[in-house]
Amino acid sequence: MAYGDIYEAAKRDPEAFWMEAAKGIDWDVQPSKALFDENAPLYEWYADGKLNACWNAVDRHVEAGHGDRTAIIYDSPVTHTKREMTFVELRNRVATLAGALRAKGVEKGDRVIIYMPMIPEALEAMLACARLGAIHSVVFGGFASHELAVRIDDCKPKCIIAASCGIEPGRVVHYKPLLDGALEQSTHQPDFCVVYQREQEVAHLEEGRDVNWHGFQYGVEPADCVPVEGNHPLYILYTSGTTGQPKGVVRHTGGHSVALNWTMRNLYDMNPGEVFWAASDVGWVVGHSYICYGPLTFGCATVVFEGKPVGTPDAGTFWRVIQDHKVRCLFTAPTAFRAIKRDDPTGSLVGDYDLSSLRSLFLAGERADPDTIEWAQDKLGVPVIDHWWQTETGWAIAGNPLGIEKLPVKIGSPSVAMPGYDVCILDEGGHPMKPGELGAIAVKLPLPPGTLPTLWEAEERFRKAYLTHFPGYYETGDAGMIDEDGYLYIMARTDDVINVAGHRLSTGAMEEVLAAHADVAECAVIGVTDTLKGQLPMGFLCLNKGAETTPEQVVKDCVKMVRDQIGPVAAFKLAVVVDRLPKTRSGKILRGTMVKIADGEDFKMPATIDDPAILDEIAEAVKPLGYGK
Ligand code: COA
Ligand code: AMP
Repeated sequence: MAYGDIYEAAKRDPEAFWMEAAKGIDWDVQPSKALFDENAPLYEWYADGKLNACWNAVDRHVEAGHGDRTAIIYDSPVTHTKREMTFVELRNRVATLAGALRAKGVEKGDRVIIYMPMIPEALEAMLACARLGAIHSVVFGGFASHELAVRIDDCKPKCIIAASCGIEPGRVVHYKPLLDGALEQSTHQPDFCVVYQREQEVAHLEEGRDVNWHGFQYGVEPADCVPVEGNHPLYILYTSGTTGQPKGVVRHTGGHSVALNWTMRNLYDMNPGEVFWAASDVGWVVGHSYICYGPLTFGCATVVFEGKPVGTPDAGTFWRVIQDHKVRCLFTAPTAFRAIKRDDPTGSLVGDYDLSSLRSLFLAGERADPDTIEWAQDKLGVPVIDHWWQTETGWAIAGNPLGIEKLPVKIGSPSVAMPGYDVCILDEGGHPMKPGELGAIAVKLPLPPGTLPTLWEAEERFRKAYLTHFPGYYETGDAGMIDEDGYLYIMARTDDVINVAGHRLSTGAMEEVLAAHADVAECAVIGVTDTLKGQLPMGFLCLNKGAETTPEQVVKDCVKMVRDQIGPVAAFKLAVVVDRLPKTRSGKILRGTMVKIADGEDFKMPATIDDPAILDEIAEAVKPLGYGK
């Protein structure tokens, strides 16, 4: 069948389509139906079925006789380690870890925070939680103590699983002190912490609270998979919104397993037994869906890569990994390719490796610029597929479904809507717009299986953030258009979320940190264009009258505060002191105009501006940072 037929079939009879897709996974109790719409506009999928996500990702492959197939390939240029693990080994390790967690009281519904780098143990921890029906929440290692503390207070974990350290090129990230710092700040305290001691750094364990990963597993009874309801939360993943309080995206078990399993063949064109590599991090949604659950559920091997596209040791690392592990499909963010292209513009290192296993490259996480796509196409000689999705959706809203049919690629577009997504472009009043017209991108409810049903213990916030602006639709927060052929174009965010090296960050959260500086009276953070990372945050600081600290010192303090409180991943290094911020007469900061000025673009003088002269001051202020005209 062609893409169009499949898309239409899913639209015409979603019930039949998603019940058919549900056959791809194992159920302890079959669901009586796919969609549960009794509480519309809140929807759930497969709510009365029973299954276990760990069973589907691990045990069932062992039961089917594929236990000696490779499940996890660990490739870590930063520690010079390579290791493979079969499905049977993974099953045994996860069952024992789950048994140890259970012996310390972790049960179905309990939350467990995981704060670990890119090591196989991070996946084992996720799967061990899933095995027990405990709800995991992975926190990215590039976040500092404060961000971790906010998440601890929001999801109130019974247990935290951490590694002693992470390894960034040139430095060791001391996870354990960061964890201890978070627990000093948080009101909630877990019953216990499990610490995986890496050889690069052995962390201090707090007597009575912390246990050693290996030690606490000694002699325990391995745990079997606990069947859970289709609408039981598998995980909570926090993502940036408009304020410093991150949104806890909830993922239900049933829809997640079904949807990811469907995408492995239909979108990524994979077969069980082949090798899939998502070069991302388990702290992001891409890591949840396509380092851990998607490939494993479908019976593929997944690569856990602890390194960078460049500098570990060079811009040929990605090609080496593809060659060494016979990767069939690579998924990463465009910024990784921009980094490689910057170090090796002619792609001279590509020829040093045998890339014959590679069939496709998928890009997501930020806008894929035409230069990067064309460079990748030219150097790799495989289809380069841009696809668009969000933490909230858990899988692609739009893409080019290689496993169904390869649609013509239009550079600049992540192609077409995936089955189950009815994507519309709406004007401010919520009216559908014509092809080619720019508007807010919204998806008609219900969203398909695998997408977020709510935010963790914040249903009102969920409704307000996503469902209220355009009744009957999910508001994506992205703006764009659809052309005559149904191809989607993603142009910008409609909120103050920015995208730095494929990482989603909130400028609002950074403003909250800056505003806490004793000398800062007012501030604004905007996202400016960066050729490598796509965007970078830039801060504008207005100081209190009579502030004693020098402007240079305030800037230094502020850069340090964001790094210490949000984390290095915020990449907040650009900041200037200004007298005033440009505002409308009603007092709204004109961030959009400031972005245009910093990016050196022409702009229209906003009709509502209070004092146009301030824009000249902004233009002058950004020059020393290398921005503006
Ligand atoms: N733990 C601790 N610190 C981390 C971290 C982690 N897991 N990941 C990143 N950081 C730190 C970096 O060391 C850096 O610190 P520094 O300011 O001391 O140099 C800072 O956070 C910013 O990181 P990043 O924005 O990633 O920049 P970079 O210069 O280290 O690397 C790229 C740039 C393009 C090579 C890198 O961003 C990359 O590989 N991106 C791939 C895209 C990706 O993984 N996207 C995820 C979504 S698909
Ligand atoms: P995250 O939740 O971190 O995955 O970030 C989601 C956001 O990243 C989206 O809302 C978009 O703004 C952006 N994004 C993701 N994929 C793409 C893409 N292919 N093209 C353009 N923007 C993208």
